[in-house]
Amino acid sequence: MAGLIPQDFIDDLIARADIVEVVGRRTQLKKAGREFKACCPFHDEKTPSFTVSPGKGFYHCFGCGAHGTAVGFLMEFDHMSFVEAIESLANSMGVEVPRSESDQPARRYDELFSLMDTVARHWQTCLKETPEAVEYLKKRGIDGSTAKRFGIGFAPDGWSNVLDKFGSSDEAAERLLTTGLIIQKDNGKHYDRFRDRIMFPIRDARGRTIGFGGRTMGDGEPKYLNSPETVLFHKGRELYGLYEARQALRHIDRLVVVEGYMDAVALARNGIDFAVATLGTATTNEHLNRLFRLTENAYFAFDGDRAGKKAAWRALENALPQVREGRQIRFVFLPEGHDPDSFVNENGADSFVKLMDAGMPLSEFLIQELSSQVDMETIDGRAKLAEMARPLVNNIPAGVYRELLVDHLANAVGLTAPKLEKMLAAGQRADGRFARADRGMAPKRRQPSASGGPSVVRRAITLLLNHPEAGHKLDIEGLAGVQRAGVDLLSALIETVQSDPNITTAGLLERWRHDEKGRHLGKLAAAGVPTDEEFDVAAELNECLQQLTLAGRKERIEFLIEKQRVTGLSDDEKSELIQRH
Ligand code: UTP
Ligand code: MN
Repeated sequence: MAGLIPQDFIDDLIARADIVEVVGRRTQLKKAGREFKACCPFHDEKTPSFTVSPGKGFYHCFGCGAHGTAVGFLMEFDHMSFVEAIESLANSMGVEVPRSESDQPARRYDELFSLMDTVARHWQTCLKETPEAVEYLKKRGIDGSTAKRFGIGFAPDGWSNVLDKFGSSDEAAERLLTTGLIIQKDNGKHYDRFRDRIMFPIRDARGRTIGFGGRTMGDGEPKYLNSPETVLFHKGRELYGLYEARQALRHIDRLVVVEGYMDAVALARNGIDFAVATLGTATTNEHLNRLFRLTENAYFAFDGDRAGKKAAWRALENALPQVREGRQIRFVFLPEGHDPDSFVNENGADSFVKLMDAGMPLSEFLIQELSSQVDMETIDGRAKLAEMARPLVNNIPAGVYRELLVDHLANAVGLTAPKLEKMLAAGQRADGRFARADRGMAPKRRQPSASGGPSVVRRAITLLLNHPEAGHKLDIEGLAGVQRAGVDLLSALIETVQSDPNITTAGLLERWRHDEKGRHLGKLAAAGVPTDEEFDVAAELNECLQQLTLAGRKERIEFLIEKQRVTGLSDDEKSELIQRH
């Protein structure tokens, strides 16, 4: 939905936003030279390592690595979505977010949201009128107030209850189809998707119903029928029960991720208000992003059987890019034959919390699982373990957590940590080396390497992000043919600062927020560069570009010579080679 707000408005807003004010209103800041310092609001600390730079419009914590712009801060600290953060920022600055033709889709969504809400309420009424459905819920331990809290309802049997009641005009039927409430047959006729099922509304962060899950009360197939992917509903992103948890809790200290609707509801019924469920999918990176925006302590609860173990392992793999110091991820395995719903109903909330507290930390689960697959008594087995750990460990961002895990692993395989690090690094490709070089990216002056390799691209991007104004006069023509990871990003960044000379560090980061390629930009902006007077950023940038251009040219010539030898050259290529040589 970010596309609905014009980019130049966002750029302008961020350039004018006062990050010191935005952060300062929520955290006590102290002036320190050109910057401001505070104890980091995102992790516990006694000495301040959280820095706000008004010039760059950027904050960074040297302790936990949190960083971002004013928009990012609002998203993290106040748990806002991107659009909400933009709106809040605009609001505090007394400007209005432009609403022109871009407003149309939003208004159409409003109608869809309101339709979903109406249908949800209709089904709640139906539940009250259907004793056998109430009975079913009661049998499963769900009382009236829990049903109400989760908005649980009942869709009566029949092919056209919803269609007749809410789809009387063509437009209305179209909306039912768009939201997945009805299905279209080949002959163009429609029928209700949900029939004779207990209905669980799935709500977004703001409490709006975006989809439904419907459970049969008997043995019908499928057991649960869910809304299809629609403009409102994206299964891999939503966590069932998150809205309800936020309603129930003032502060979310921890969250436990379970597999089923009924698990989340049963836990809530028993006083455990911090359970959320994935919707029949594996835990995705997006789920985890959501989760860690709200809490540092995430638990995953799985059934004790083989399928549960497998699901847990997949969750672990997806969680690796998200682990860092200060975050706790634990895996909770239920006794064989139980899921959280049956467990909490049989043993009570205290037992479930005990189980959670005894949950296995991610590092332990990782090592235990790998060890169980090899013969740890043999050197071969331990080497194999290191081999299997490599892709996993390399998915963990560099930092204290990763180092601790490597220590643990080293211990398990009987190696020293540096030796294991070496083994983990062996055979890595250029992008892997790229990631590790990051740790050395201290604010020291570093000569770009002569190869024009990734470190030069990286260096140039870091300089440019920290001093966008230094890119105003750069000549990027030479970059055109250079085949290096990150060169296209560098070119795009330079073009941006040239077409928008007032853009700040924060502005650049926000431009790339939704871009896969921009994922590492925040880290580079945080790396910083020397601030001493005689350090000439523009000259240094120019130097980087020259090196890249040269390296690119050299490569092109080598390529042409090789091609000449193997397949021969076209006339154009021949003259190019002569010209370049
Ligand atoms: P389970 O099969 O473990 O069911 O599915 P459950 O949660 O224990 O349900 P109850 O206790 O029998 O009522 C876990 C989750 O997987 C998805 C649902 O989100 C469900 O909550 N699922 C399962 C489906 O989407 N469709 C299905 O047919 C089954
Ligand atoms: Mn169950």
